[in-house]
Amino acid sequence: MIRLSLIHGPNLNLLGIREADIYGTDSFDDINRKIKQRGQECGLEVRIFQSNHEGEIVDAIQDARQWADGIIINPGALTHYSYSIRDALAAVRLPVIEVHVSNVHAREEFRRHSVVSPIVVGQIVGMGTYGYLLALDAMRHIVEQSHM
Ligand code: DQA
Repeated sequence: MIRLSLIHGPNLNLLGIREADIYGTDSFDDINRKIKQRGQECGLEVRIFQSNHEGEIVDAIQDARQWADGIIINPGALTHYSYSIRDALAAVRLPVIEVHVSNVHAREEFRRHSVVSPIVVGQIVGMGTYGYLLALDAMRHIVEQSHM
């Protein structure tokens, strides 16, 4: 079974409440339920973690090294400036997919730059929370290819 760590960064626990015009109305719990359900349908074990604290996210990334085949991460605003998250992702040497619910390229200038993107396999951006489900499918493909 393929095992994935899915990490939500700061403020993503407020999905469904926060700026619904940008991030949609699905609640955080609903989104996680859909992720788990899709994971089960695809034969993936998905462990979901959320934190508003940079260091805890670094710890979760390091922890994934012990058990996960890949990491799906939406680092929230930390995307734009967290070198510690980037370094942790690079250190664990697992395939990483970066997800953003909103189209960060169509918003404020500071959101266009990701310090994480140079070390990820790819990004899924602007597809709403459906982007997480796309990421599951993409990651399964990436991990299966790497085992062939
Ligand atoms: C986000 C985009 C970031 O710029 C923002 O700070 C977030 C959410 C997204 O999913 O669209 O918290 O990562």
